[in-house]
Amino acid sequence: MLKIAVLIGSLRQGSYNMQLANTMKERYINKWDLEFADIRSLPFFDQDIELNPPHTVRAFMDKVASADGVLIITPEYNWSVPGVLKNAIDWLSRVDKVLIGKPVLTAGVSPGMMGTIRAQMHLREILASPGIQAKLLPPAGNEIYISSAALKFDETTNRLVDESTLRFIDRVVDRFVEFAH
Ligand code: FNR
Repeated sequence: MLKIAVLIGSLRQGSYNMQLANTMKERYINKWDLEFADIRSLPFFDQDIELNPPHTVRAFMDKVASADGVLIITPEYNWSVPGVLKNAIDWLSRVDKVLIGKPVLTAGVSPGMMGTIRAQMHLREILASPGIQAKLLPPAGNEIYISSAALKFDETTNRLVDESTLRFIDRVVDRFVEFAH
C-alpha cells in the first residue's frame, strides 16, 4: 500500500481543503494510506537553525521523507499559496531536500469561481525549483481545481459530494497511484 504524506494549506476549522483531504482519505482507502503531516506547529524557516532544527521540524521532514509520495491540498490566498504552506515547503527544500524526485499530487478548493488555479500554478513553479524538484504528473487532465465549494460539499457530513468532480478525481488518483509506484 502506498504511503502518502498530506499537507493542507489551511489551518482553519471547517476548511474545505481539509474536507477534501478527508474525502480522499476515505474514498481511496484501498489505494493509499494518507497520513497527515502537520504544518501548524512548524516554526518560521530560519537558515540559522536549519542544521539543528527543533523536533517538530525533524519529525515533519522524516514523515515526508519516508512517504512514497505527497499530496498537497491548498486554498488560494491572494492568488498564491498560503504563507504557512510555503514555509513548510521551504523547510522541505533544505538540508536533506526530501522532495527531490518525490511524486507529488496537488489539489485545491475555493468557494469562488477559479478553484485555486493561480495558487496551484504558483505551486507547480515552486515544486520545480532546484531544492525541490518534485515529480508531478503532466498538468493536462490531472489538475484538481474545485470551484464553488458551497455547492459541492455537504455541510452535514463535511465531505465532497459532487459526483462529476468525484469521478474526475477518481481518474487522477488512479494515474497518480500508478505514477508513484
Ligand atoms: C482568500 N480567498 C481567496 N480565494 C480565491 O479563490 N482566490 C484568492 O486569491 C483568495 N485570497 C484569499 C486570501 C486570504 C488571506 C483569505 C483568508 C482567503 C478565499 C478562500 O478561497 C476561502 O477563504 C477558502 O474557504 C479557504 O480555504 P479553506 O480554509 O476553506 O480550506
